[in-house]
Amino acid sequence: KPRIHKPPPRVYREPKSEWWGLGLGTLYSNLLCEGIVYIKFFFSGLHCLSVCPPLGMESHRIENDQLLTSSVYQHRYGSHRARLNIQASGEEDDTNGGAWCANPEEKVHWIELDARTLTEFTGVITQGRDDPLESDYVSSYYVAFSNDSREWTVLDDGYAEWLFFGNSDKNTPVLSQFMEPVVARYIRILPQSWNGTMCMRMEVLGCPVPDPLSQYQSQNEVTHRDDLDYTHHNYLDMEKLMKSISDKCPNITRFYSLGKSFKGLEIYAMEITDNPGMHETGEPEFRYTAGYHGNEALGREILLMLMQYLCREYKDGNPRVHHLVDETRIHLVPSVNPDGHMKAFEKGSELGSWTLGHWTEDGHDIFQNFPDLNNIFWDAEDKGMVPKLIPNHHVPIPEGILSSNGSVAVETLALISWMESHPFVLGANLQGGERLVTYPFDMRQLWVPSRKLWEIRMIEDQSLFRWLAISYASTHRTMTQTFQGGCHADDPTGGLGIVNRAKWKPIPGSMNDFSYLHTNCFELSIFLGCDKFPHQSELLREWEQNREALLTFMAQVHRGIKGVVRDKEGNPISNATVSVEGVNHDVRTGESGDYWRLLNPGEYRVTARAEGYSPFTRLCVVGFDPGATLCNFDLNKSNWDRIKQIMALHGNRPIRLLSSGNRGSGQRYTYSSNQIPNSKFSNQIPNGNGGDMNRARLRRLRLMRIRRLRQQRLLANKTTMLPTTTTTTTTTVPPTTESTTPWYDSWPLGETFEENTTPPEETELTDALDYNYNYKIDDY
Ligand SMILES: *[C@@H]1O[C@H](CO)[C@@H](O)[C@H](O)[C@H]1NC(C)=O
Ligand SMILES: *[C@@H]1O[C@H](CO)[C@@H](O)[C@H](O)[C@H]1NC(C)=O
Ligand SMILES: *[C@@H]1O[C@H](CO)[C@@H](O)[C@H](O)[C@H]1NC(C)=O
Ligand SMILES: *[C@@H]1O[C@H](CO)[C@@H](O)[C@H](O)[C@H]1NC(C)=O
Ligand SMILES: *[C@@H]1O[C@H](CO)[C@@H](O)[C@H](O)[C@H]1NC(C)=O
Ligand SMILES: *[C@@H]1O[C@H](CO)[C@@H](O)[C@H](O)[C@H]1NC(C)=O
Ligand SMILES: *[C@@H]1O[C@H](CO)[C@@H](O)[C@H](O)[C@H]1NC(C)=O
Repeated sequence: KPRIHKPPPRVYREPKSEWWGLGLGTLYSNLLCEGIVYIKFFFSGLHCLSVCPPLGMESHRIENDQLLTSSVYQHRYGSHRARLNIQASGEEDDTNGGAWCANPEEKVHWIELDARTLTEFTGVITQGRDDPLESDYVSSYYVAFSNDSREWTVLDDGYAEWLFFGNSDKNTPVLSQFMEPVVARYIRILPQSWNGTMCMRMEVLGCPVPDPLSQYQSQNEVTHRDDLDYTHHNYLDMEKLMKSISDKCPNITRFYSLGKSFKGLEIYAMEITDNPGMHETGEPEFRYTAGYHGNEALGREILLMLMQYLCREYKDGNPRVHHLVDETRIHLVPSVNPDGHMKAFEKGSELGSWTLGHWTEDGHDIFQNFPDLNNIFWDAEDKGMVPKLIPNHHVPIPEGILSSNGSVAVETLALISWMESHPFVLGANLQGGERLVTYPFDMRQLWVPSRKLWEIRMIEDQSLFRWLAISYASTHRTMTQTFQGGCHADDPTGGLGIVNRAKWKPIPGSMNDFSYLHTNCFELSIFLGCDKFPHQSELLREWEQNREALLTFMAQVHRGIKGVVRDKEGNPISNATVSVEGVNHDVRTGESGDYWRLLNPGEYRVTARAEGYSPFTRLCVVGFDPGATLCNFDLNKSNWDRIKQIMALHGNRPIRLLSSGNRGSGQRYTYSSNQIPNSKFSNQIPNGNGGDMNRARLRRLRLMRIRRLRQQRLLANKTTMLPTTTTTTTTTVPPTTESTTPWYDSWPLGETFEENTTPPEETELTDALDYNYNYKIDDY
């Protein structure tokens, strides 16, 4: 059907005068007060303009089929690319352009938005095309309105059609407000002059006109309101609000700071738990952090709302919140990068561009400013050193990285010491610019030239991470509604709202990877929405969309197993390792001997180990019910102490030397069986039935092994008699494939390799994955 454009301004006109530029650009925005703009009009005195919020080009509340354009340069620059702050995909086969671009062959250009209901339009915001090279933007345009998309009225100033000044670069959004609100259903922007190709992105400001006849509208109003402070907070307002929450709920809150930003602002945190200020044995610690990028202001406000909500609901006796607060130590850090937020806040929610305030004052992206432990860890894994030489968890930070001048931001350092000083179990960082949850690894491995691909390492706890991500995405009101695509490209999540970061947009040195490799804490990223800094009027809606998801995700900290590792006297053992068979990622106990291991429902063989104690393995069952399964461990003193005594008797020299002569590489020490007391054989037997049978089986195995050792020794004697051999050698006995309980205590890691001066050999590479700390005597 033909669309008649009437009257279309056909002639390009120069801007009228400097005065107009001043009027439109400067005066309007400088005289804002309480949503009304007062401007001194040249001849008619004081005017006031109402300011409406964005209709939702950037937030995607405006759907693609509400947009129409006169022409399209190529599909990838279609009308759906006209959203404020939309990003080009940056790939070579760039299917997602950084703006709507018109066909240069056409004479008349316009883009049209159908608000679907009668709307009071008050202004438009325009922006050029996102592109690393080109500078394409619209520098002037007319605006037209219609109620039927056929009859169009071009906005005029009473004398002539009103030409608006547009952009003068490709990134900075420029706001133009109308002298008076215009009521219509359709709005058109008619570009008149531009630089480069005619490309633009935009946002439209408007308020729906209330229609008393329409029942539909009122029925769809959000009925449940939490009555929180739904405004944006600058630094001082945030401080004031957090203090007031802390004053309202002194019994369950503690207001503290992680440290100072580059410019000296505090990185504030709110602790919410039943006994704030201390870690309670058995109570897991949880964290939400936000504002790594200062312009991603939504996460900050969401966390401020969450604090208010938890405080108020706790006082009101909400049983769910009571349970959560009493059983969890919750830390909320709304603004990790307060300096950046300050910059973005000054420009306001719409005009800050995509990146203003993203970085710290001294130029760091905090989220990806953490020491890269991935490469260290993967390298060790490739060499078969995990977990025997390099632990599969708590990977140490290489010396000097944190102190090297200026490469790690002060904000990052504050976060690292905070992460190290609390036994966090689960956390999420709230970000913006997308609507999805990402799970680690965030980094992909280096380019593999031989296979011509980027290798992506799967995280050991992948299925658990996917569950955690889904627990948020699926309880968020709109996160899985991805049929319109993602914020900037096609939906990368396959409709689930979750994606592996390394597969999607890999980054090195991320908080999530660091947290997983260096601490016990599992950390994910939650991207709250396309609009990083939504208008204040969106905050209530955003809270409603996220509230359930925020609570559900927090409750996941009570999934899996938890417990305390103690010695026989009941003293807690800190720094003990708790490992789950089949998952090559351990956790360690905290200062009070408590540990948490997030796990999906299932049956697990769990082993606790500590230096100086015999390891102990037991079966722990994780059900589908909420609440972690209690799995305590009481460890016996290790036989190693007694072995040490025996060694001391022998002048601390190895008692018997066997070397793998066949390979000609390296020597290993071992102890002959008769020097190890018998009582050790029962140590590994799990409680409960089957103990006797096991004991008998172990006795049998032991005899077999002793026989084998004898044969070995015999062989050794033979070979030493060969004149050519200078060292004592022995043929290696093939390792038994039976995976039985080790016949005596595991060999303590450090000490084995103190004695063994040679690096691990090939035989170890093959069994590096079968994840066993226990050194069987047969292996040597
Ligand atoms: C659209 O309709 C409304 C109400 O009927 C009217 O006030 C407004 O002026 C119309 N707008 C245009 C552009 O015709
Ligand atoms: C206009 O576009 C041209 C070519 O794309 C570019 O070289 C030039 O810098 C742009 N001008 C401005 C003021 O951005
Ligand atoms: C704090 O706890 C005390 C005692 O447990 C109680 O009397 C008081 O009312 C509580 N205060 C608030 C604000 O809940
Ligand atoms: C770091 O840089 C500052 C100034 O650039 C300098 O004063 C300081 O000595 C440097 N510190 C180290 C450890 O290099
Ligand atoms: C914890 O144990 C590991 C070995 O399991 C050891 O390397 C580390 O130094 C210990 N840490 C502390 C704080 O004791
Ligand atoms: C600890 O030793 C006692 C006997 O000394 C034994 O009965 C018990 O099973 C052992 N427990 C563990 C966890 O090894
Ligand atoms: C090995 O040889 C030594 C002396 O060469 C001898 O004393 C010892 O009994 C032999 N051991 C065995 C097991 O034959």
